[in-house]
Amino acid sequence: MSTPGTATAGTGIRLHAPAPGWAVEADVVVVGSGVAGLTVALRCAAAGRRTVVVTKARLDDGSTRWAQGGIAAALGEGDTPEQHLDDTLVAGAGLCDEAAVRLLVTEGPGAVGRLMESGAVFDTSAETGEIELTREGGHHRRRIAHAGGDATGAEISRALVEAVQAAGIRTVENALVLDLLQDAEGRTAGVTLHVMGEGQHDGVGAVHAPAVILATGGMGQVFSATTNPAVSTGDGVALALRAGAEVSDLEFVQFHPTVLFLGPDAEGQQPLVSEAVRGEGAHLVDADGVRFMVGQHELAELAPRDIVAKGIMRRMQEQGTRHMYLDARHFGAEMWEQRFPTILAACRAHGIDPVTEPIPVAPAAHYASGGVRTDLHGRTTVPGLYACGEVACTGVHGANRLASNSLLEGLVFAERIAEDIVAHPPAVGAPVVPVPATGPLQPSGARYEIQRIMTDGAGVLRSAGSLAGAAAALEDLYAAALGELETHGKTAEPGVDTWEATNLLCVARVLVAAARRREETRGCHWREDHPDRDDANWRRHLVVRLSATEKRALVVTPTDSADFPSVQHPLLNDSMEQSA
Ligand code: SIN
Repeated sequence: MSTPGTATAGTGIRLHAPAPGWAVEADVVVVGSGVAGLTVALRCAAAGRRTVVVTKARLDDGSTRWAQGGIAAALGEGDTPEQHLDDTLVAGAGLCDEAAVRLLVTEGPGAVGRLMESGAVFDTSAETGEIELTREGGHHRRRIAHAGGDATGAEISRALVEAVQAAGIRTVENALVLDLLQDAEGRTAGVTLHVMGEGQHDGVGAVHAPAVILATGGMGQVFSATTNPAVSTGDGVALALRAGAEVSDLEFVQFHPTVLFLGPDAEGQQPLVSEAVRGEGAHLVDADGVRFMVGQHELAELAPRDIVAKGIMRRMQEQGTRHMYLDARHFGAEMWEQRFPTILAACRAHGIDPVTEPIPVAPAAHYASGGVRTDLHGRTTVPGLYACGEVACTGVHGANRLASNSLLEGLVFAERIAEDIVAHPPAVGAPVVPVPATGPLQPSGARYEIQRIMTDGAGVLRSAGSLAGAAAALEDLYAAALGELETHGKTAEPGVDTWEATNLLCVARVLVAAARRREETRGCHWREDHPDRDDANWRRHLVVRLSATEKRALVVTPTDSADFPSVQHPLLNDSMEQSA
């Protein structure tokens, strides 16, 4: 087995796509433009590296701008990185990498300071002028800096986009990344991408660079209802798997407990109701108006997110309802308008007035705690390929991310990646001509089928039966497209919809394979047939990679958590091959 930073040959599997018709040369290409991507781009450009940012929509269209609650850091009086570490480890349910968390919490306050130097403005107290801090689930104290009340991500995005533009960094918008380019030794040599619509370059092209940073965000669109924007289709994880990189902890999908309930069949991006609303004193109540989290956890509504999501689901099952309520009428109109203007507007747009009525809420897919496995410098197992932000699995989140640690992780590990690239510029030879694609493209309509399968079989509450059903249905989708390719030499027309659907199927299959294997309940992985946490057998990670030998096989390898992420992991005997 390889470890992050060591050579790994690519799988030879590529998306079907036309050959690149244009190319750009760079030292560093950053894929994605959220807090992680733009931070690493700014640092690399400041160090004199020719840096190109490619992003799927507009520069400010990723997940960062939707972040409401804020950014967690030990900034308050009496707070310490050690206390932040403790809360993070508890939320992570035994699977955090303590060294990674320690870096996060100790380097975090400085990174937030540098973000402010880049122009981000946080809310401050009128009396003291100090940054105002709020609370969210799992935090034992006020530790979350916010901006514009509940528009923290939008403010961070604004500041970083302006800084990138002021620095004159080259950006390519509306560009869907396709695959990694690698040299003959498997080292990173750039990416292929498709630029949509009008731009400097149209169609499929390439950015040649010895360092590629994946900052593509999450994969929430693998489920029917999610807080993630439409662009979150797991492109970075799928690319990394095809390039031979290891992916870890994909079974740990965080379902945010309080997403505005828009009906049982609501699809796509759903409005978030930030945990900060509970942090400021809102109560979760059931259909009878009873506060059901009291007595379930010492922090009641502010228990870690997985515990609150489970509490909501259980009470929904008991009462036979599709949602619970978040009651914050006692805030009054003025507090709602000043502190939570974004949420207030979203609720009112859907006919709910939180000032006068409780808000109907239910859990929805929110965050991938796992992702492309990295070491403490953001290096993946493919030389020259880095990952940061939601696409990465740095080890800080374990089985359940602590609220508002994601923006912080993006910042801290982006800076570490830039330092690594500057200190140790990756070497590369000429990109090899990509081998012909071996897997079929999914038809564009498969996206909705995948979402339905995943929501039914691999959602908040899972079982061996539900996961087996999901796995079989996903295999059927794959087999149907493969049959077309093998029998008739045909695959779906290459295009954004079919590439996205193919990426979604890839990450869905890995997620389900890992969730089937993990026969316990831990963090945000909830198995009704294995309701207890099983430290004796499962205090370890599931590492997944596409087999390099058998082109259409997934290898799922459990590895000991003590060895995550920087030491060779020895447990190869428990590996499982799945026909793909
Ligand atoms: C929220 O504001 O509740 C979301 C924050 C997060 O996902 O960390």
